[in-house]
Amino acid sequence: MNTTLWPPTTEFWSRTFPEATRNRTTPHLFKGIIPPSAASPQDALAGLESLRRAHAAGTVHAARARVYVGEERHDELIETVLAKDGWDEGQFVPWMQSLVGAERFSLVLNNLETASPKLAAGLGVFLRSLYEGWGVPIGGAEQVAFAGNYAGTAFGVHEGAEDAFLCHLGPGVKDFYCWSQEDYVRLTGGIAPLKGDYQWLLEHAERFVMEPGDALFLPKRVFHVGRQDEFSISVAVSLYTYPDDRLLRLSVLPELLERLLGEDPTNPMGEQSPLHAAAAGSAPAVTRLTDRARAALADADEQLGAAVARHVEERWMVLETNGGWENVASDLGRMDAAAAFDASRLLAGTEVAIPAPYQLRITGPQQAYLRGVAVSCDTTAMTAGLIDALNTHTPTALPDDDRLRESLAALGATGGIHILTGSNTPEARA
Ligand SMILES: [Fe+2]
Repeated sequence: MNTTLWPPTTEFWSRTFPEATRNRTTPHLFKGIIPPSAASPQDALAGLESLRRAHAAGTVHAARARVYVGEERHDELIETVLAKDGWDEGQFVPWMQSLVGAERFSLVLNNLETASPKLAAGLGVFLRSLYEGWGVPIGGAEQVAFAGNYAGTAFGVHEGAEDAFLCHLGPGVKDFYCWSQEDYVRLTGGIAPLKGDYQWLLEHAERFVMEPGDALFLPKRVFHVGRQDEFSISVAVSLYTYPDDRLLRLSVLPELLERLLGEDPTNPMGEQSPLHAAAAGSAPAVTRLTDRARAALADADEQLGAAVARHVEERWMVLETNGGWENVASDLGRMDAAAAFDASRLLAGTEVAIPAPYQLRITGPQQAYLRGVAVSCDTTAMTAGLIDALNTHTPTALPDDDRLRESLAALGATGGIHILTGSNTPEARA
């Protein structure tokens, strides 16, 4: 185990990584860099157990499970996997086999970082070093788990949409096959995924043998498929570098236009369109709306810099305080932690901590971000020493200070504060 590379150093990101991957454009298998203490198959299965608990409680959340037998997706089996009695220790594979009624199966879990606090923290260490050493993807990162003993990835041979690290947790070994887009198009005549019998194509691939602890850099545009005989789990850490235009089209510009043209709460009727004279035809209505649009776009132009800055700064704060993981509505881990938080237990002498990988950022006297959430609270009660202790995940005893307790009570609603005193749950110490 090459744990000297964990977490990868600045030297790794600035030299080893670009050299091994032709400037981050070709796949490369980094052997034995993930210690089992950071990510194990059990940690991924613990995520599935969280999904099963949420299902039993009727909690609506963002993480999704999909079940495949061969290349067939079986949505009717999701309910079975989430609701049936659980597996006995070490018996996950026969349990799945009996539920799906097949020898070989595949289970895909999206947004696993929201379901497994252990993996959010363990792979969060890797993500943080990636952000510091390589860069920050503006959409953050997601964990997608591929668990199974499948003969081939259920999506067939397909193209990656974003740069990703495929972290192999084991226990089995996985064969992973990659093709450059150029080779794939030459061999298959197009970019469509190839399902069914693609044995012939494998001979032309670059093959990687993934053992537990290995991490494969899988750049976008590279075609790939995974195969194995024995059960194993891999977790893809996908980096979401959205197209600039998409960010502007879906987020920044609609937000700006809403501010400029949105409904005025003091005058919900707004400036109404008049009755237009029939004889004049449509031309006056066109002129009127064009004038209004032109004025609004001139205002938009003036406010653009500030609007983009506000949007990007907020994204930055969300990513920094959420361990680098993408911001999802109805984050299961956040909801679980917020529900377990009891502000009445914040007494003088009580020990509190921010669980890894989350962070606190103070953005004003009345505003802070914690675990990806903006919080209105009095931040002046927090000393630099306290903030530092919280951000290094050091358990800290509370002083006798009502103002501080009030602020922490507000922050705790994000699920980003664990109360340690009197608690012996392993999550609280994670
Ligand atoms: Fe893929």
